[in-house]
Amino acid sequence: MRAGAVIVAAGSGERLGAGGPKALVRVAGLPLVTWSVRALEEALEVEAIVIACPPGMERETAAAVGTHAQVHAIVPGSTSRQRSVARGLAALPGDLDAILVHDAARPLITPHVVSRLVARLAAEEAVIAAAPVPDTLKRADGQLHVEHTVDRTGLWGAQTPQAFRAPTLLGIFGDAGPEELDSATDCAGMAERRGVRVLLMDPGIPNPKVTTQADLRLVEALLGAGRIA
Ligand code: CTP
Ligand code: MG
Repeated sequence: MRAGAVIVAAGSGERLGAGGPKALVRVAGLPLVTWSVRALEEALEVEAIVIACPPGMERETAAAVGTHAQVHAIVPGSTSRQRSVARGLAALPGDLDAILVHDAARPLITPHVVSRLVARLAAEEAVIAAAPVPDTLKRADGQLHVEHTVDRTGLWGAQTPQAFRAPTLLGIFGDAGPEELDSATDCAGMAERRGVRVLLMDPGIPNPKVTTQADLRLVEALLGAGRIA
């Protein structure tokens, strides 16, 4: 299967508070986004990668990421994650069988997981990295007192990459209006709304999203120790 990938890297990283875009923060010697570029380009199925970067930072992003044969374009992202995905999709080549959408904020992804996701598309329209929720879940009131415990049976945390047959994902975005592009938080959610069956695939590796400084310290330690296959 010939696959393309959109890496969304256009967020401002407010919760990280690094004073600049999160995707360009250096982690274990590389800009955060570069870890994902490397993993995706090493997956044999991935032919083209588009990076959606903070608007106006195309040149800084290109300089930070460096030269990679598979990086097809670096385009300005937009005001919401899903709008950034849409910009990225528009810049991919037109002849792909599969498209993966991945957060620059998840640098621990591996080529093996990418290939496993693409392989599942032989029998599925959509498959996403996800893990069963391990913690006991509490619903809180406004003062952080527990209201009740939430049953976690069947609850999974959605991650990225999220992989789709190309016509399916392009059809979804062709159909999406401004409200949905502002409110949806992942591509799978947009697929579910249209009745597309989405398969959950546990990547079997730690795949945290860098949101806070604590996350950054965690991934720095894991990447510094060598990527987990
Ligand atoms: N993203 C994007 N365009 C946006 C918002 C987010 O491309 N307008 C990307 C981010 O770069 C990130 C991923 O979507 O790779 C997940 O978003 P998140 O972790 O929330 O990153 P930020 O929005 O940058 O962080 P924050 O919400 O703390 O500002
Ligand atoms: Mg955000």
